[in-house]
Amino acid sequence: MLFKQLFEPESSTYTYLLACEDTKQAILIDPVASEIETYLDLLEQHGLSLVYSLDTHVHADHVTGAKLLKERAGSKAVLHRNSGVPCGDILVTDGCLLRIGSIEVEARYTPGHTNACTSYVVDNMVFTGDALLIDGCGRTDFQEGDAGTLYDSIHNQLFSLPDDTVVYPGHDYKGRTHSSIGHEREFNARLGHKQTREDFIELMKHLDLPYPAKIDVALPANKACGNVDADCKK
Ligand SMILES: [Fe+2]
Repeated sequence: MLFKQLFEPESSTYTYLLACEDTKQAILIDPVASEIETYLDLLEQHGLSLVYSLDTHVHADHVTGAKLLKERAGSKAVLHRNSGVPCGDILVTDGCLLRIGSIEVEARYTPGHTNACTSYVVDNMVFTGDALLIDGCGRTDFQEGDAGTLYDSIHNQLFSLPDDTVVYPGHDYKGRTHSSIGHEREFNARLGHKQTREDFIELMKHLDLPYPAKIDVALPANKACGNVDADCKK
């Protein structure tokens, strides 16, 4: 399998390219619109055809590359059915499997940061979006977020994976690239094993985070698969 972790510095977003080396079919997880030329170059360099772009959720901090990739690489936009994104080509639910050559991608519904967050499991890797971050987790105060729901998602859907599962998050703001389920279950500052559900809810209630800077632009655009001219306020 060909695997690349890419980084968009303005929003500290990680994007992942995975490809089957036999069939040359590829997927991108959480592509960013501003990085589209990098993705197209990479696909060309490796002779890959992009089958799917997967969004782990409707992002509030950057515009998805789903629409541009659909137009320029012919890929299908994949995201959870609860996303409220009618232009999505494949609307997954918990347990859905996508196959790209020899690669099998399992969707795990992990709401709480938003109502439609989905993590994707491939072999011994899990792409957690903003549900589980390295030593942290996504905020729960926008987009129908809910701290109790996030705690349940992480414990039931992610901490149930084997200890050595590699965690690839949607962001990191300190230059870390990956972690493991065993490490996060033990040491995650918000969700480590001693943290109860009640404590976690209390902690998330008092984070006092600023209003997300790009949310008013990114949300309407992402509800239209990354069309920045879209009017999706209704
Ligand atoms: Fe997010």
